[in-house]
Amino acid sequence: MDVTQLSPNIGANIEGINLSDTLSPDVISAIKAVWDEHLVVRFRNQSITDDDLLRFSRYFGELDPPGPNPYGITFLPEYPEINVISNVKAEDGTPMGNLGDGEAVWHADMTYIEKPPEAGILHALEIPVGQGHTYFANMIKAYEALPADLKNAIDGKTLIHDAAHNSAGMLRRGYQEVSDPRETPGARHPLVWEDTFGRKALFLGRRPHAYILGLTVTESDRLLDKLWAHATTAEWTWFNQWQVGDILMWQNLLVLHRRDAFDGSIRRVMHRTQLKSLAA
Ligand code: SIN
Repeated sequence: MDVTQLSPNIGANIEGINLSDTLSPDVISAIKAVWDEHLVVRFRNQSITDDDLLRFSRYFGELDPPGPNPYGITFLPEYPEINVISNVKAEDGTPMGNLGDGEAVWHADMTYIEKPPEAGILHALEIPVGQGHTYFANMIKAYEALPADLKNAIDGKTLIHDAAHNSAGMLRRGYQEVSDPRETPGARHPLVWEDTFGRKALFLGRRPHAYILGLTVTESDRLLDKLWAHATTAEWTWFNQWQVGDILMWQNLLVLHRRDAFDGSIRRVMHRTQLKSLAA
């Protein structure tokens, strides 16, 4: 297995492993060690089926089914654990995947629930070449580099994570718009997340409709704007220019991600799994 760092502060590429093979415990542990260190791992030129994607995902923890989408559709009824991220529509106009072709703002997945998934794994099946890049930001590095006044300001503070909208800004089924962020529906989590190794990370979820408990709305918005500007600094960010056959895995509670918009007339199809918790 050949490991190359993808940027100074986040991401590693692994070569020399065929993910359609059954992997030995030693190889799985080696991949996990690279993943724990670099938080995002990429495999290129893979040719895998959905069954392979599920088997590979299960090596690292228990699968977590996709959250509700705005259309109330299970995109792959024969594989309910797999989410489809795609702009493709059926002939009658029914979306065949989530998130369309617009920008998906910086976020971590499903932090609006009490126990958000610890990891996401994305398989690129069809790609608009040179568009729709996905960016990742290392929240451990962001926390470490946080100025002392901001570290003090978030110490012991709790954030509301919006459950009503997806990362493309669309209202999920069963929710209504609320204008006061103090009434945002969704889980409450500490602003600083500590992982099983004792590493601290900024834990922001997504910016729209967020609110820090105990502050006025103005104070909360000011503090969140500063934290988000810091969290998405290029220094601890890297982006993937997708190729068909890329498999990319990220540690969801330690990493933020976002996706560029792309030309909606070109098909983009990704299959995604997520893990409830990472095996030790
Ligand atoms: C996501 O935000 O989970 C989707 C990322 C992508 O479409 O590349």
